[in-house]
Amino acid sequence: MLAVHELEVRYGRVHAVRGVSLTLAEGEVVAVLGANGAGKSSLLRALLGLTRPCGGAVLFGGRDITRWPTSARVRDGLILVPEGRRIVMTLTIQENLLMGAFHRRDHRAVAAEIADIYDRFPHLAARRHHPASVLSGGEQQMLAIGRGLLARPRLMMLDEPSLGLSPKLSNEVFALIRRLNRENGQSILLVEQNTQRALELAGRAYVLELGRVVMEGAPERIVADHALQAAYLGRGTAERRGGGQHATSAS
Ligand SMILES: Nc1ncnc2c1ncn2[C@@H]1O[C@H](COP(=O)(O)OP(=O)(O)OP(=O)(O)O)[C@@H](O)[C@H]1O
Ligand SMILES: [Mg+2]
Repeated sequence: MLAVHELEVRYGRVHAVRGVSLTLAEGEVVAVLGANGAGKSSLLRALLGLTRPCGGAVLFGGRDITRWPTSARVRDGLILVPEGRRIVMTLTIQENLLMGAFHRRDHRAVAAEIADIYDRFPHLAARRHHPASVLSGGEQQMLAIGRGLLARPRLMMLDEPSLGLSPKLSNEVFALIRRLNRENGQSILLVEQNTQRALELAGRAYVLELGRVVMEGAPERIVADHALQAAYLGRGTAERRGGGQHATSAS
């Protein structure tokens, strides 16, 4: 479904993404892990066309979308739930959801899907006509994911959905992501710093460090590599304890 070849992103002299290649098959959850500044968000923004890569190629559904404008990618089903959620606080919950469906003309189906989201998230339903600012952080994250779903994603990219949430709320967000994948077969590219939780969900993972892929494979393999590094290099143990871990690796 998604194949990224040797992608490069630069901001002036900052080389944020350095020859990243990755793949994702239909129905997969693939995690991209890495510490602050590793290039995770830059990678997602380049995949959506918000940042123009200076090298490499992106294939989506077998087509080369490297030079497509963002709007065409969204219409083709490539959807990003951005870092920091980007909810419009002055709009109501219902209006925020409708934003996700802005390019759709099948209004009846949209209304049915909104009803479905309200069934899933009673907290949103009860306050549908209130400004989004009344929602808690976790509820805002649910709203951002609901808005993403209304765009009918073939591939949903989530940028640190658990960021800033309490352990209880992150559990709810991870449970929702798992349900979307298991029950609806939703393909998901999940960027996370919470290595442990992301590896519980993902079928495969990539670890980025300073813009490069330094590890990839099945979750067990990533965990084992981490353990090895902790044993031989004295790295990684602190990061692997508790929530909000950073994936680290020798390069
Ligand atoms: N618009 C920009 N202009 C200049 N430099 C940028 C810009 N956006 C990101 N960078 C730099 O690119 C590098 C990668 O940033 P990016 O946001 O992709 O990291 P990240 O892995 O998402 O980090 P975090 O976990 O903190 O969100 C960093 O050094 C960052 O300072
Ligand atoms: Mg980021």
